[in-house]
Amino acid sequence: MIHEFETRDGVMYIGGKSAVEIVEEFGSPVYVTDEARLRENFCRIRDAFSKYIDTRVHYACKANTNLSILKILEQEGAGIDAVSIGEVLTCLKAGYSPNRIMYTGVNVSDSELKQVADLGVMINIDSVSEMERLARIAPGHKISFRITPGVGSGHGAKVITGTKGAKFGIPLDEVIGTYVRAKDLGFDIRGIHAHIGSGGQSVEPFMDMMEILVELVNELSGLGIDLEFIDMGGGIGVPYQPQEEEMDLDELAMNLTDMILEETNVKTLVLEPGRYVVCDSTVLLTKVNDVKDAGTKKYVGCDAGFNTLIRPAMYDSFHYVALANKMGKACTDKFDVVGPICESGDYLAHDRVLPDPKEGDIVAVYNAGAYGFSMSSNYNSRPLCAEVLVCDGHADLIREAESIEEMWRHQKVPERLR
Ligand code: LLP
Repeated sequence: MIHEFETRDGVMYIGGKSAVEIVEEFGSPVYVTDEARLRENFCRIRDAFSKYIDTRVHYACKANTNLSILKILEQEGAGIDAVSIGEVLTCLKAGYSPNRIMYTGVNVSDSELKQVADLGVMINIDSVSEMERLARIAPGHKISFRITPGVGSGHGAKVITGTKGAKFGIPLDEVIGTYVRAKDLGFDIRGIHAHIGSGGQSVEPFMDMMEILVELVNELSGLGIDLEFIDMGGGIGVPYQPQEEEMDLDELAMNLTDMILEETNVKTLVLEPGRYVVCDSTVLLTKVNDVKDAGTKKYVGCDAGFNTLIRPAMYDSFHYVALANKMGKACTDKFDVVGPICESGDYLAHDRVLPDPKEGDIVAVYNAGAYGFSMSSNYNSRPLCAEVLVCDGHADLIREAESIEEMWRHQKVPERLR
């Protein structure tokens, strides 16, 4: 089941605050996060694993890097999975200490590696090339390796990362040799990492991946390379369809930790959930500007399109939608919910039954917290939208909507064109 929000007199309430009032106060479109739900999600996943094994939850901040959201998770004790120097510096700004951050870049430059190493952040190495370069840049640095387990999982082909031949990680047959080389190079080797993909909803691929990690850990231990942690990556999916079942988190945690504790000397598990932590804490509210009957189709035209939420256009992802000011009202017809971008691929939802949508209504797009704002763009010269955080009925602006002028701020017009 997807996470439902409270309804009062036909109006959606998020964190105790009316969606209609939020749009009146902060404008549209706007991403709205329920702080209590965010904290709950983090604690639920941490507790599911930490009851079995020493667990470090490194929030994969690529899902959502808003400083206030990072700060809330910092208060809850999260660590960070960062993929770029930008994410590392953002998390430092949010109050994380460098030793709570792990950097897992892919195809990164020497200068970025140097910046990350100088900050004292552990580096999860993605390739032999990266290892050799890092050995020159930051000898003896604390590291782990991302390996390619040959197992994939995810909501679609574009987000499966762990299969053989993927661009990510050390190929399986090179892993042992690479660790031996890293030891010879004098690195401070801490762990092993794999990430099979994003949005998977079944336990089996995680088990298959862990079997491979466990085998490698034991082989390395036989060679005198003992690891502190196994990092299982992220990728734990959440339901997006109203009736979809949740993955059994306890089954996953119990089986994975069992395998680690029974078969290895490793005492710590690291996990890197992004989606699981932020996804259903946030809805995107977008105002209906236009309603059109095109004969073969009816359209609800909103002020958010794939510039604001790209997941439907990019992955064909399903996001549940409702009219936030007409909750529980009888549905009248089927509509496509579309945006203001001049492409036919610009949509938020296809063929949804909605209760007589009219201009001025507010569409709530569910499960928008993960890879929503963080993937938004200025396409069609539309400014990035605002973000709001709600707690106990009180709403705070946590990101101002961008202005048109701000979209121009990095452009330069050469003298001869003026
Ligand atoms: N760890 C690593 C190394 C990753 O590459 C990722 C996601 C995660 C953790 C977090 O995965 P999660 O728990 O959020 O599934 N833009 C796509 C998702 C791309 C995920 C990329 N890597 C989407 O909107 O579905």
